[in-house]
Amino acid sequence: MIHIEGLIKKFGDRTAVDHLSLDIAKGEVFGLLGPNGAGKTTTIRMLTMLTQPTAGTIMIDGCDHGEQCIKAVIGVVPQHFNLDIELTAWENLELHGRLHHMPTEERRQRIAELLEYVELSDRGTEMVQKFSGGMKRRLMIARALLHRPKVLFLDEPTVGLDPQVRRRLWELIRHLKDEGLTVLLTTHYIEEAESLCQRVAILEKGKLIALDTPAALCQRLGAYVVEWDEPEGSKTRFFTDRAIASEFAATLTTTTTLRQTNLEDAFVELTGRKVTG
Ligand SMILES: Nc1ncnc2c1ncn2[C@@H]1O[C@H](COP(=O)(O)OP(=O)(O)OP(=O)(O)O)[C@@H](O)[C@H]1O
Ligand SMILES: [Mg+2]
Repeated sequence: MIHIEGLIKKFGDRTAVDHLSLDIAKGEVFGLLGPNGAGKTTTIRMLTMLTQPTAGTIMIDGCDHGEQCIKAVIGVVPQHFNLDIELTAWENLELHGRLHHMPTEERRQRIAELLEYVELSDRGTEMVQKFSGGMKRRLMIARALLHRPKVLFLDEPTVGLDPQVRRRLWELIRHLKDEGLTVLLTTHYIEEAESLCQRVAILEKGKLIALDTPAALCQRLGAYVVEWDEPEGSKTRFFTDRAIASEFAATLTTTTTLRQTNLEDAFVELTGRKVTG
């Protein structure tokens, strides 16, 4: 569904995205992870035609980058709010539907359906400036889905949301996947990527440093991790065998934890950074 080859974006001397190549299958939920400034948003902006690549190839659903047909197949939820706050929720969706040349009757039906879907039916006639952050985020998702795209781009969709709303959004994303939508999302919440994504790519300084299923990335380190405290901070060691990990843990005298390796461990090991967010 998405084919990226040798993608580069430079801002002056700075290379924000550096020779990125990857393929995303139809119906896949794919996670783009990486520390602040890794190039995630820049990648999404190139894929959604908001900025021109310096070099490289992008194809989405058989359309070449730059062709108008791409706009019809993609839906975008950007990192920062970009709703018109002086319009109502309904009017924001109406405007988007018109920009996509949706016929009046279909547009109205779809707006009503999507407001229901994101649980905003009773707030449709209210100005967006009165909405909470979570409501705005849900409205942006409704807007991105209005014209029935085949690929949805979500740039940090759950940032600032309370845990319940975040989990409701996860359900929504899973439901969209079941309906055959392809989803590319970025997140700093590693457990979110682990729970939602079939595969994840980790970017650092614009370069792809890992691409695999969350389970395979964990397996690479070893399925078990022992964590213990040292005066200079906490330490970790990975093991493929639980019994050997347990033997090692028994030799330690400080507070020790033995647990299964998770995607956050893989992220920290690969990028050498603690998780933000
Ligand atoms: N318009 C721009 N002009 C100059 N440099 C830019 C511009 N947009 C992004 N950059 C730079 O490109 C690099 C990648 O930025 P990008 O926003 O893609 O990172 P990100 O992975 O989305 O980070 P975050 O997790 O903080 O959202 C950064 O060094 C950033 O300063
Ligand atoms: Mg970003």
